[in-house]
Amino acid sequence: MDRWIERLVAAQGRWAKPFGEFNHRWLQALFRPITPVRDFLNGRWLGHPLHGVLTDAPIGILFLVVVFDLAGQSGAGQTLVILIVGILSMVAAAAAGLADYSDTDGTARERATVHGTLMVVALGLYLVSLALRASSSASSPAAVVLSIAAFLIVAASAYIGGDLVYVFGNMVSRHAFRGSGTKWIALEPAELDDAGNVPEGRLVKAKLGINTLVLVREGERILAVHDTCAHAGGPLSGGTLQDGCVVCPWHGSTFGMSDGRARRGPTVYDQPAYEVRRTEAGGWEARRKSS
Ligand code: FES
Repeated sequence: MDRWIERLVAAQGRWAKPFGEFNHRWLQALFRPITPVRDFLNGRWLGHPLHGVLTDAPIGILFLVVVFDLAGQSGAGQTLVILIVGILSMVAAAAAGLADYSDTDGTARERATVHGTLMVVALGLYLVSLALRASSSASSPAAVVLSIAAFLIVAASAYIGGDLVYVFGNMVSRHAFRGSGTKWIALEPAELDDAGNVPEGRLVKAKLGINTLVLVREGERILAVHDTCAHAGGPLSGGTLQDGCVVCPWHGSTFGMSDGRARRGPTVYDQPAYEVRRTEAGGWEARRKSS
């Protein structure tokens, strides 16, 4: 069954890929001038993807509509109110989802396109169902059928949305499984200047055991964060340095070099930060800062 579902969803890539690219363009144009709004919708202020928080509400509320309909309450005033609240919460979850979607790439974007398209179809059915209920005082069988069909579509779409996180790791911290050991380990910068020092004022890659860090030297102080962007794994050493922060080259997430704190999204997670010191032999060693 799972293989069949996977094949069915993957086959949607034929239309989802070009449609996703089209959506990516207009969403980028929409959010670029309003990055604080996008950051808010991503959930950086919460340290957690806002979409994941908001999606529980419409699914729970719209399930109640199914229950009330099946209990013969489809024409009741409270069912209408519950449906309206469900639709509004669906729109709120969609706004947060669009912000995440605008910085989603590759196969994850295709799946997100299928997920979002199904949700829009379900929303359309709910709106028609709402109009039918509002226009007649008696219960409308068509309104009930539409609501049930819409809920089934929402459930299918939620399944695909779950895959986006659990299978494709979309909006999952790239450092979720990184150990938090704080042992000092030898640090090997990829470049040194003529004086044998880390070049000053620019990003320099370095090896720290199995990890890759990005460094910046400010006088005697060396600031370091992990090179893999927490958002989707972009190489921060290929980014830019701005006002003491490193800006990811992939989607522009911005982290303080001194503390790894996310200053701008789409990441909602901080970057592991490291302290660096000189060794007696004249090299460097580093360890992860405790958060
Ligand atoms: S990978 Fe997306 S901002 Fe870095």
